[in-house]
Amino acid sequence: MTVEDLRQLVRTIPDFPKPGILFRDVTTLIGDGPGFAAAVGHMAARAEAAGAQVIAGIEARGFVFGAAMAARMGLPFVPVRKPGKLPVPVLAIDYALEYGTDTLEVDPGAVPDGARVVVVDDLIATGGTALAAVELLRRAGGSVVHSLFAIDLPDLGGADRLRAAGVPADALLAFD
Ligand code: PRP
Ligand code: HPA
Repeated sequence: MTVEDLRQLVRTIPDFPKPGILFRDVTTLIGDGPGFAAAVGHMAARAEAAGAQVIAGIEARGFVFGAAMAARMGLPFVPVRKPGKLPVPVLAIDYALEYGTDTLEVDPGAVPDGARVVVVDDLIATGGTALAAVELLRRAGGSVVHSLFAIDLPDLGGADRLRAAGVPADALLAFD
């Protein structure tokens, strides 16, 4: 299945979670067995080309894509978690969301020093979440060499913000 074949598997919901927002919903993509397998395969190929040694996924939907990629590639998976979930002292960062603010946390021992980390999420919008994850993974000792998303919303500028922070950004599909 080509990358463009995956476009039709993304459901668009108007006015969610707020009026005026066109919500791009990946649950229909991951709910399609061959489609999900193809998406993970295409993302894993790109992570491999970037020389990934560690896959870091952002809670929650980044876990779905990132963990599947890591298992397929035989690489370690590092969860970048929402607050209060990790059972050890954490590195934490607050960040602005498209709809509010939140915090992300990482186990400081989760990333081997200097390891080539690829950050994965289902979708990039403003880039606030991914930039916060990059900052945390760098503080944890990782070298963040690439960021990968199933979906980019380029009008919101997130991928450009990541590139400006020195992290190549790449998505399977872009939606206006
Ligand atoms: C969504 C999405 C990304 C982030 C993108 O996650 O999965 O993580 O927002 O937005 P940004 O580029 O503007 O930061 P959400 O916070 O809704 O969490 P979820 O994965 O737990 O549903
Ligand atoms: N879809 C899914 N998640 C999101 C979106 C969207 O359009 N915008 C920010 N997070």
